[in-house]
Amino acid sequence: MQAIVLEANEKLNLIEFPKPIAKAGEAIIKIQAASLNHRDQWSRIGLYPNLKYPSILGSDGCGIVESVGSEADKNWINESIIINPNIHWGDNPKFQSFNYTILGMPTHGTLAEYVCVPVDRLHKKPIHLSIEEASALPLAALTAFRAVFTKGETSKDKNVLITGIGGGVAQFALQFALAVGAKVFITSGDDEKLEKGLKLGAFFGVNYKNEGWEKQLQRQCPLGFDVIIDGAGGDGFGKLAKMVGQGANFVVYGGTSGSPSPINLPRLFFSQANIKGTTMGSDEEFSQMISFINEYKIKPMISSVRPLKDAISAFDEMHEGKQFGKLVITI
Ligand SMILES: NC(=O)c1ccc[n+]([C@@H]2O[C@H](COP(=O)([O-])OP(=O)(O)OC[C@H]3O[C@@H](n4cnc5c(N)ncnc54)[C@H](OP(=O)(O)O)[C@@H]3O)[C@@H](O)[C@H]2O)c1
Repeated sequence: MQAIVLEANEKLNLIEFPKPIAKAGEAIIKIQAASLNHRDQWSRIGLYPNLKYPSILGSDGCGIVESVGSEADKNWINESIIINPNIHWGDNPKFQSFNYTILGMPTHGTLAEYVCVPVDRLHKKPIHLSIEEASALPLAALTAFRAVFTKGETSKDKNVLITGIGGGVAQFALQFALAVGAKVFITSGDDEKLEKGLKLGAFFGVNYKNEGWEKQLQRQCPLGFDVIIDGAGGDGFGKLAKMVGQGANFVVYGGTSGSPSPINLPRLFFSQANIKGTTMGSDEEFSQMISFINEYKIKPMISSVRPLKDAISAFDEMHEGKQFGKLVITI
C-alpha cells in the first residue's frame, strides 16, 4: 500500500509499505481521508519524544472498516468510522497511563491506504459531517474538549481567551466555547485569521504581533479572564498570566513558541488562579466530544484538501503556519 513514512529524521516520503494484517480484537480500516496535526510536523523534524523509524505518520482518519481479526467484531465491517487516537489512556480520567501513546508515532498511523487499530478505538462517523470533515476531528477536537470543559470549566457567559486562533486545537476550542454561550476573545499573528475568528462568533480579537496587544485585551476584560486556553507558551505566556481573573483556569496544551516568559506571581496567587496542563483526553471524553459535536452540529474548519501524493506539501504549509483550519489528505 502507499503510505507517508518517516524513514529517518526529516526523511519523510510517500513509499510502498506492507499492508497491515488484523490480529484478534483489531480492525483494518481503508482510510478515505486523514488530517494533519502539529505533532506530525514535530515528528518530521525530530522534535517529538520517542520517535521510531520507519513510522507511518497521521493520528486522524476517517474510513471504512474492511476486515476484522475476530468473528465477534464482524458487525463493524463496512461501517464508516473515525478513530480514537488514544492508545492505552488507562483507567484514571485525570491523567494518562505511563505506556500511553498516540496513533501515528510510534504505532503506524492514518496517512496510508490502510491502518490497523484495536476495534475499541472505532467510533461511527457523525452523519452531519463529510468524510473530509470527520477526518479532521479526532486529535484536535479531543484536546480542545478537555481543555475547554474538563480543565477550563467553561460555561455560559464566562470570559474565555483563546490564543493563536489559526491553530487546529484553538479553532475547536472556539467552536466549543461559543456553543455553550461563552464570550470568547481570540489572538492571532494574522489579521485575516482574526477576521475569520470574529465571523465565527468571537467577541474581540487582537494580533499578538502588535506592540501592546496585551493592554488591548486587558481593556476589553479589565477584571481578567475566567478561562485562558493557550498552546503557544513563549514570550506571551507571562503576559497571559497577568490577565487571569479571580479563580481563573489558565489551561496550557502546547508550547509552539517555546519556553514561557516569567509570570507575575502575586497576580497569580491573589487571584486564586490555576495553571493547568492538559494533554489529549480520556476515552470517555472522546465519546463525550463526539456526542457534543453531534448535539451542536459542529463542523471542523477545513483549510485545504489534497491527495496523498501531495501530502508532504501539507506538512510544509503547517510549518509555515499559513492555514486557517485543518489540512486534509484524501486517500
Ligand atoms: N497536549 C496535547 O494533547 C496537544 C494536542 C494537540 C496539539 N498540541 C500542541 O499544541 C500546539 C498547537 O497544535 P495544533 O495542532 O493546533 O497546531 P497548528 O494547527 O499548527 O497551530 C499552531 C498555531 O500556533 C499559533 N501561534 C504561533 N505562535 C503563537 C504565539 N506567539 N502566540 C499565540 N499563538 C501562536 C498560530 O496561530 P495564528 O496562526 O493564529 O497566529 C498557529 O496557527 C502544538 O505545539 C502542538 O504540538 C498539544
